[in-house]
Amino acid sequence: MLATERCRAGQGDHKAPRGPRCVGVEGDRGTRMDSTVWVYLTRQHTYPSPQGEQKEAAMAMNESVSSVLNEQINKELYSAYLYLTFADYYEDRGLKGFANWYEIQAKEEMDHAMAIRRYLLDNDFTPTMEAIAKPDKTFQNDLEPLEAGLEHEEYVTSLIHHCYEVAHEVHDVRTMKFLDWFVSEQGEEETNARDMITNMKLFGSDPKGLYDLDREYQARVYTQLTALPL
Ligand SMILES: [Fe+2]
Repeated sequence: MLATERCRAGQGDHKAPRGPRCVGVEGDRGTRMDSTVWVYLTRQHTYPSPQGEQKEAAMAMNESVSSVLNEQINKELYSAYLYLTFADYYEDRGLKGFANWYEIQAKEEMDHAMAIRRYLLDNDFTPTMEAIAKPDKTFQNDLEPLEAGLEHEEYVTSLIHHCYEVAHEVHDVRTMKFLDWFVSEQGEEETNARDMITNMKLFGSDPKGLYDLDREYQARVYTQLTALPL
């Protein structure tokens, strides 16, 4: 892994193998490539071609990419809101394990929003915090929030895939790599949501079965997302 490098404008002192030669863009902070920090800010460099000619490569984030990622921050925060309404429903039902599961789910969604916000900031784009919609779902039984959860996760998967497609269209490899984690995460979220539906259908109608399920979900522990495995 490379250590933090500071680009000295006009000095051309990048250490990266076959790395760009800096031509001096004010504000350029260089690149750090390790697993704990998201920093990407190489905005403009020249790359020597095999023929020796200099070719400019603009690295600023494409507007369409920053726009969909900004929207995704809002969707992730809405997801947190939605899951808090699920937690409230189960809390009211006396199912504190289910409530715990969705409280943690809400925290994870906020982590996702924060990760995208950080990615945008580290790519020299200041996000805009738009209004978050009010969740409007009401539930008649213990299965309905679980089914709404699966439906919502499938929707979020489609949003993440759209972000990926937009990045792909403009050859934004960096953002595609950033989104890889979210693509995998959505697969896990959908699996969890389906499993919860299956469990509820199998055991939820029996009081002892429901009690055991609730205890199982009570055991879930929140782990804060501190960095994506880039
Ligand atoms: Fe999410």
